[in-house]
Amino acid sequence: MNNTVKFKADFPLLGKPMGNNPLVYLDNGATTQKPGEVIKAITEYYDSFNANPHRGAYELSIKATDIYENARIKTQQFINAKYSHEIIFTKNATESLNLVAYSYGLSHVGAGDEVLIAISEHHSNLVPWQYVCQMKGATLKYIYLEEDHNLSQRDIEEKITEKTKVVAVAQVSNVLGLINPVKEIVERAHKAGAVVVVDGSQSVPHMAVDVQDMDADFFVFSGHKMLSPMGIGVLYGKEALLNDMPPFLMGGDMIDYVEEQHTDYAPLPAKFEAGTQNVGGAAGLSAAIDYLNRVGFEYIEKQEKELTKYAISRMKEMDYIELYGCDSSRDNKTGIVTFNVKDVHPHDVSTIMDAHGVAIRAGHHCAQPLMIYLKQNATCRASFYFYNSKEDVDKFIEALSKVRGVLGLGA
Ligand SMILES: Cc1ncc(COP(=O)(O)O)c(C=O)c1O
Repeated sequence: MNNTVKFKADFPLLGKPMGNNPLVYLDNGATTQKPGEVIKAITEYYDSFNANPHRGAYELSIKATDIYENARIKTQQFINAKYSHEIIFTKNATESLNLVAYSYGLSHVGAGDEVLIAISEHHSNLVPWQYVCQMKGATLKYIYLEEDHNLSQRDIEEKITEKTKVVAVAQVSNVLGLINPVKEIVERAHKAGAVVVVDGSQSVPHMAVDVQDMDADFFVFSGHKMLSPMGIGVLYGKEALLNDMPPFLMGGDMIDYVEEQHTDYAPLPAKFEAGTQNVGGAAGLSAAIDYLNRVGFEYIEKQEKELTKYAISRMKEMDYIELYGCDSSRDNKTGIVTFNVKDVHPHDVSTIMDAHGVAIRAGHHCAQPLMIYLKQNATCRASFYFYNSKEDVDKFIEALSKVRGVLGLGA
């Protein structure tokens, strides 16, 4: 049995047909499928251990607390954070980014300051910074792109200045699929006295991440893009910064002592985890990390690179396909292939491919400023994961080759 057949067998949904066709799932940038052992970990939590953590002195509550806190330690080790209390559980990457923008941004960015982000940012790492700048009278500046769609080196060098208070950038763009030079950006930003927020939503599922080596001040990701359930996300922040920040959400669990007119907040990480948390989600995240560690990022990166290279080479044989972010001058391409079919709306491409069981994404990918910059209303996106096979790419290419014919446009 080859590796992809073996891996696919672990994912119940990947074995199910879509209409009359076997499913070819190529929308992993949006969310990944879940292996049986992740689903089992969530079910087991609700079957056998469900209780409100941190609140009870009885056995079940202690067990729920253990599951939740062990997931935190596993996440700390997964991204090599220094302390487990630097890991804050949230709902998703979006909530993590809002936490940083509201709590750090609103209290550290002032009139005349600048926030620098990339033009390729997902709306989740863009709209919160627009809001901060609007509220504080600061300026939102952009790193634009080189011809090969990598971040402009000149912008990186020239736009980080002593006015910059925050640089917020994705480690991998969800549209272009290119790995950004975050370590270099962090180094430059720190020299200028700015903090760096790295959006790891499209990197953490696909490559080994070491937040200490990267030296990012904040790092965020969503569980559901890395085999875990929806509803669990992560914010990593350096201890000193998190300690210094006001809370984001307030209420139960984030307090030490409350009087009529005053509250002492709880220490990290509880200060940022108000209300009942997603323990089932944390159990799933924990099982997903175990699964990913077993597969290994060496294999994951190699498999995705091979599939991407193969897909791009096949697509380049079709002269009616326009590709974005697929001609990088560096070896920094991940498993995301964004494209358009000449004269066909991306939604039509996706619908026609769906009739062949091939699931891809079409739209603006929550990156409208990038779409405007690329002079496109929308694009199609195929995104691979380690469980995808060369046969999946062949089926994708076969379905893609039929799109224009279905619409009477010829090949
Ligand atoms: C780069 C990037 N950042 C942020 C997000 C937001 O993730 P979520 O919707 O899980 O909060 C996504 C989701 O597509 C993404 O690709």
